[in-house]
Amino acid sequence: MEKKMNLNLLTLVVLVTLPTCFAYNATIGWQTFNKGPPLVIANGGTSGLYPDQTLRAYRDAANSTSSPLALLCDLMISKDNFGICRPGFFLEMSTNTTSYPATAKRSTYSGYGQNLTGYFANDFTLAELLTVTGMRTSNARPPIFTQETLAAPENVSQIAAEFGVATWINVEFPEFFQEYPAPNSLLSYLTSFLKTNKVQYLSVTNSSILKLIAPTNGTRLVLKLLDYDGLVDPLFQNLTDIATYAQGVLVPNSYVIPKNFTGYGVYEGQATTAVQDAHKAGLEIFVYGFANDRQPYIYNYSKDPVLEVLSYVGDSFTADGIVTDFPNTAATAIHCYPDGFDKPSTIQASTPKLTNPIIIAEDGASGDLPGSTMAAYLKAIDDGADYIECKVQITSDGVPICRDGENLLNNTNIGSSQAKLEKYYTAYPDFGYGVFSFDVPSTEIQNLRGIISRPNNSTSRDPANDGKESILTLKEFLNLSKIYTNTGLYVNVQNAYKVYRLKNLDMVSAVATALAVADLTNAGDKVLLASEDTSALNAFQEVIPNVRLVYVIANNEMDYSVPREVLKEIKKYADTVHIYRSFIDRIDPYTYFVNKMTSVVQEAKALNMTVFYASISNEYLNLAFDYRADPHLKMYYLLQELQSNGKSLLDGFLTVYPATVYNFLNNNYCYRTLGGATNRSMSGRNDPIYRVYPDATAIWYIPPAFPVLNVTQGPVSYGNVVNATPPAPPPKPSSSPSLGSNLPFTLLASAVLIFILNFTLQQVIIDG
Ligand SMILES: *[C@@H]1O[C@H](CO)[C@@H](O)[C@H](O)[C@H]1NC(C)=O
Ligand SMILES: *[C@@H]1O[C@H](CO)[C@@H](O)[C@H](O)[C@H]1NC(C)=O
Ligand SMILES: *[C@@H]1O[C@H](CO)[C@@H](O)[C@H](O)[C@H]1NC(C)=O
Ligand SMILES: *[C@@H]1O[C@H](CO)[C@@H](O)[C@H](O)[C@H]1NC(C)=O
Ligand SMILES: *[C@@H]1O[C@H](CO)[C@@H](O)[C@H](O)[C@H]1NC(C)=O
Ligand SMILES: *[C@@H]1O[C@H](CO)[C@@H](O)[C@H](O)[C@H]1NC(C)=O
Ligand SMILES: *[C@@H]1O[C@H](CO)[C@@H](O)[C@H](O)[C@H]1NC(C)=O
Ligand SMILES: *[C@@H]1O[C@H](CO)[C@@H](O)[C@H](O)[C@H]1NC(C)=O
Ligand SMILES: *[C@@H]1O[C@H](CO)[C@@H](O)[C@H](O)[C@H]1NC(C)=O
Ligand SMILES: *[C@@H]1O[C@H](CO)[C@@H](O)[C@H](O)[C@H]1NC(C)=O
Ligand SMILES: *[C@@H]1O[C@H](CO)[C@@H](O)[C@H](O)[C@H]1NC(C)=O
Ligand SMILES: *[C@@H]1O[C@H](CO)[C@@H](O)[C@H](O)[C@H]1NC(C)=O
Repeated sequence: MEKKMNLNLLTLVVLVTLPTCFAYNATIGWQTFNKGPPLVIANGGTSGLYPDQTLRAYRDAANSTSSPLALLCDLMISKDNFGICRPGFFLEMSTNTTSYPATAKRSTYSGYGQNLTGYFANDFTLAELLTVTGMRTSNARPPIFTQETLAAPENVSQIAAEFGVATWINVEFPEFFQEYPAPNSLLSYLTSFLKTNKVQYLSVTNSSILKLIAPTNGTRLVLKLLDYDGLVDPLFQNLTDIATYAQGVLVPNSYVIPKNFTGYGVYEGQATTAVQDAHKAGLEIFVYGFANDRQPYIYNYSKDPVLEVLSYVGDSFTADGIVTDFPNTAATAIHCYPDGFDKPSTIQASTPKLTNPIIIAEDGASGDLPGSTMAAYLKAIDDGADYIECKVQITSDGVPICRDGENLLNNTNIGSSQAKLEKYYTAYPDFGYGVFSFDVPSTEIQNLRGIISRPNNSTSRDPANDGKESILTLKEFLNLSKIYTNTGLYVNVQNAYKVYRLKNLDMVSAVATALAVADLTNAGDKVLLASEDTSALNAFQEVIPNVRLVYVIANNEMDYSVPREVLKEIKKYADTVHIYRSFIDRIDPYTYFVNKMTSVVQEAKALNMTVFYASISNEYLNLAFDYRADPHLKMYYLLQELQSNGKSLLDGFLTVYPATVYNFLNNNYCYRTLGGATNRSMSGRNDPIYRVYPDATAIWYIPPAFPVLNVTQGPVSYGNVVNATPPAPPPKPSSSPSLGSNLPFTLLASAVLIFILNFTLQQVIIDG
């Protein structure tokens, strides 16, 4: 195994190319039809956050998004021939029926070859519609905004004028509203509306009806084409023809970058020449279908919504506009990732406003690949990680391995072997049901293969590489330091105390030995040794005193508070603290907004501790609604919030998506130069990013007074190993465990050192 691994390492040494993704190239300028930056088209306002096409959603979009911006309204016609903006076909899809007038009832109309039954805009007067409240259209969105007033096209046009942005009217069901509430109602409405209101874009899904609209003063006419299960509308084959009656086309983004649903997620193929073709025909081309919280996920971008937008905004082609439910994410992609000087290094060399936190890749790039495998580590290094993490577990015969969790069912393919399940499936009070590494011998673990972790949704991460990557031992992981000398190793020892109590397996000695054998116990070594276990940290302090230690406040300690006294206690064991996000910006379980930032980071900094934030995830399910399903916005908020005198209080970010964090810290022009006036004017208006608090009227969750986290452990004395082989157990410490009350155990450092050295010699002989 050892020999094979070395060979793999040599062949896998690749030139590290750090990710750079830029929207704008000053040498060639914007590649849009008008040679200006692409338009962000807010689909019903910020409909990813607030109920679609309500006053609040439009105001928010206008206030939180860089120009050029358009506010899109899906036009419907009321009973009294006024306009109203609503998504979908039936009102009940986006409004709260309990707020309807008492006289309201469902009706049936024939249209689109069907009998359609529901609540229709054309059955209500505008006054009635303005008493109805908007409702979220997806369960993934905030439930708390229940009192939002619907917007009429006039409102949209007014808000647009107030903020100096554009109005976009889209008619999704032109045939229906041309017939209801009365014949020709759509065209007569549009004729007068376009005269009295400034409308920069009007899109219609029916080319015959679009042709009936007289060229109007300053309104660009756009043909909207639909997605026919991935097929392209035949009209799109003759762009020259479309150009005879329209100035632009609005198409599903799959027309530009085709998509394949594989049963669990989506893969994108090569871009078509749709954008270039439209431009050649003299048409602007706008793309729709963007939402940060869309399911199923597209795997090409590691679920990074900024990267997705950037793939439509580049040197080879740039779409003229992006229709999205999260307009400020699209604007961030367009305006904050420019190559302003045509030299990425210039941006990188510009002094960032804050010192950059380091990037620690959790289990490697484990959001994209099975965690703790060679592939995940190499990708993390390639993606710009400063440190790669090995979460250490132990086998039944005492071999430390890297696995993201002790339960092999969650991170290996052991579940596919009935025989192994029968043999090893079990339960422990501390660990629940599963197959646990400490029950399985290394000879069997060696034959297993990694699978990707699936935190919230069994299909949210790409299983394509499951069952392909072998399980690494800690020793193999440590060997990476010999090749990737710039990358640090983050060795996170999990459950040392519990496993020792349960199985008498000594992870502390095993890890200390492995580090000593790899010659990684010296002061300058780029190694961080982490644990959620003070007894383990204390033992490490004694046996390998030059290794920097990290205390982990983990996810499962969420219902505790961490006041200064606890941090002081932690500081006895480690100068660095790795804090799970809930202790810093806890998500309110009722509103899913951040309830309140805690002061744990400031408290730790007051004690001169180094602080790591765990962790930055791209999946919207892990992001508070404040962050608008956008990990870039989250990092921006955190760094704005947690700083002091131009220094970031966060010293590191853990992440399973190191490329996203790297791209944000190094290539986000807005983050790096905010406050530098010249650069700011160059990239246009920066996003005004601010915290979004829910209504004061919303029911607020009052967090309970959590008990204080107890970091002290019961007596344990590592080094007294019975089962582990090799080596032979070291001498039992002669001191009594009750000696220190603060430090629950003592360990004879010298005895362990001898044991390590002896083990080293044996290893050298075996390896040689
Ligand atoms: C910008 O465009 C020029 C000309 O096509 C190209 O040589 C250069 O590599 C581009 N810069 C970036 C950062 O892509
Ligand atoms: C824009 O948002 C900020 C922050 O919430 C707020 O203070 C400001 O009043 C808003 N501006 C307008 C014009 O709505
Ligand atoms: C509809 O509105 C009522 C009253 O404002 C509110 O109690 C209810 O939760 C809302 N329902 C939905 C689905 O938003
Ligand atoms: C619609 O309803 C009418 C009356 O009930 C019926 O005659 C007709 O066949 C229905 N049309 C369709 C497409 O179902
Ligand atoms: C066209 O728009 C301009 C500027 O908004 C206005 O001055 C002019 O009267 C408009 N013309 C027509 C025919 O509506
Ligand atoms: C495309 O449309 C143009 C203009 O209407 C027409 O002249 C031409 O014949 C059409 N081409 C095809 C291949 O249908
Ligand atoms: C989608 O999958 C099919 C079948 O595997 C393949 O032929 C096609 O090229 C794929 N398309 C894209 C866009 O990846
Ligand atoms: C999990 O993801 C799939 C698609 O990737 C989606 O259809 C499903 O609703 C999601 N389930 C949950 C519980 O979020
Ligand atoms: C690990 O697997 C167990 C049992 O299969 C399951 O209950 C648990 O939720 C899983 N943990 C994670 C983090 O997926
Ligand atoms: C933190 O460091 C500063 C500067 O080295 C020192 O003045 C201060 O006393 C330290 N505080 C603590 C709590 O160690
Ligand atoms: C913390 O836990 C230890 C070990 O379980 C126990 O001895 C001690 O009493 C606890 N301390 C507090 C304050 O609960
Ligand atoms: C070193 O290892 C050898 C061989 O396993 C053993 O005989 C010897 O007692 C060990 N020495 C110490 C000091 O543990």
